[in-house]
Amino acid sequence: MMCPDSSSNSPKASMVRAPVCRPHRPTLLADSLVFIAGAFSALLLFWILSSILSPATPMTSFSPSPRYYSSSSFSPYLHFANLSIHPDLFNDTDPDLLRDPPNSTFYDDPSLSYTIDRHITDWDDKRRRWLRLHPWLSPAPGGRERILMISGSQPNPCRNPIGDHLLLRFLKNKVDYCRRFGIELLYNNALQHPKMRTYWAKIPIIRAAMIAHPEADWVWWVDSDAAFTDMDFQLPLRRYRNHNLVLHGWPNLVFEEKSWVGLNAGVFLIRNCQWSLDFMARWARFGPQDPDYVQWGQRLKNEFKGKVFAESDDQSALVHILIRERDLWADKIFLEDSFYFEGYWLEIIGRLEKMSEMYLALERNVPPLRRRHAEKVAAVYGRMRDGELERQGAETGPAGWRRPFMTHFTGCQPCSGDHNKKYSGENCYQGMLRALNFADDQVMRVYGFKHTELESYGVTPLPFDYPAA
Ligand SMILES: *[C@@H]1O[C@H](CO)[C@@H](O)[C@H](O)[C@H]1NC(C)=O
Ligand SMILES: *[C@@H]1O[C@H](CO)[C@@H](O)[C@H](O)[C@H]1NC(C)=O
Ligand SMILES: *[C@@H]1O[C@H](CO)[C@@H](O)[C@H](O)[C@H]1NC(C)=O
Repeated sequence: MMCPDSSSNSPKASMVRAPVCRPHRPTLLADSLVFIAGAFSALLLFWILSSILSPATPMTSFSPSPRYYSSSSFSPYLHFANLSIHPDLFNDTDPDLLRDPPNSTFYDDPSLSYTIDRHITDWDDKRRRWLRLHPWLSPAPGGRERILMISGSQPNPCRNPIGDHLLLRFLKNKVDYCRRFGIELLYNNALQHPKMRTYWAKIPIIRAAMIAHPEADWVWWVDSDAAFTDMDFQLPLRRYRNHNLVLHGWPNLVFEEKSWVGLNAGVFLIRNCQWSLDFMARWARFGPQDPDYVQWGQRLKNEFKGKVFAESDDQSALVHILIRERDLWADKIFLEDSFYFEGYWLEIIGRLEKMSEMYLALERNVPPLRRRHAEKVAAVYGRMRDGELERQGAETGPAGWRRPFMTHFTGCQPCSGDHNKKYSGENCYQGMLRALNFADDQVMRVYGFKHTELESYGVTPLPFDYPAA
């Protein structure tokens, strides 16, 4: 069963119990009278105002449809009702978005479920059939595959007083990156399975999103505490054409040293296909909704040295599956270690100023890189800059000065504030602010501004021909 204990805390359940605390009758009656009087005067005021504010003669250009209009009863909304039927208000939708052929698809199958507890079969065929019915949403032959980025955070406010602000900055960073490359972003704030919280919450939403987005070839999960720190870099999708799951990781650390930190499960690319649905179903078996969850926690703790908490987490479960069921899954999983698919923040934030300096020096020597341009063509200059970086031998990684693609604030817990005791809260906060502003400077550049300093909220206009001027 999906959620055995959900009825006890659902809003419905508390409504059923509500009569127990109903106040005595007289109070209720008095309250109602006060309420009715108040509502009546508000209504009267609204009616008077709306008569004054509306034009005396009807706007004749509107063509009202009687379907939406009822003259039989008094309604203070009368004058506004006609607005809702002006054809201009409904006639700007892209015609392609107004087409969904009636031919039956998996959406019409009552047994197909969005929830993680129910199996889907033949997904590749189902998706292909849907795409055949919607050819305008299929990728062009040889075209770039479609990516849906998903990120998310808890449904309730953050405990850390600046947690929600930090999440907003991290979200802005993702919105900026997605806008530059036309990637769609889904931000999730709900628990699709009430027991699958924190690091388990991503699996149910990814699964549901694959069904809701059959046009997407890939889902790119990005933890809320990870920031893009190279706004020009794009994922090398061709390299992953024979794989279904891509993570930042090191094969020798996973398969030889059997380390649970040999990969990072906070950022990954997963193909929208049957393999991925099967893999996520397997992966989810280690989650809190499974009866063996507690037992798995102990087993994973015993299995991996350095894992101090006896709780089954998504990352050690993933490493466990990779090692123990290598024949089943490993050939479709790509561990990317040639660039910062996501990078450990402590390894990065101390080098940000140096990177900025090196990039500015590069631009002083290459005038075309200084040409002002529209954001829509920013990729042209990104490509040009990458070429120059290659030529100059700029390296990625801890020893190089190439911007890291993504910086991940693992252990900083911006929302709860319960950062790992290894780090100080100040370090985490400064690190996040610096990385986010470092990225923001790359975005603001095409708007003609930059932050006065990496740790500053303030911005300053850029002169023409910056940074030569
Ligand atoms: C709204 O539609 C009704 C019915 O067609 C019409 O009598 C009325 O004058 C319209 N009001 C305005 C403000 O256009
Ligand atoms: C929408 O606009 C098009 C083009 O202007 C027009 O031909 C069509 O009749 C309009 N449709 C509606 C429902 O008004
Ligand atoms: C969709 O249904 C129509 C009408 O029944 C049919 O002519 C058409 O071939 C169907 N399209 C596909 C791709 O099955």
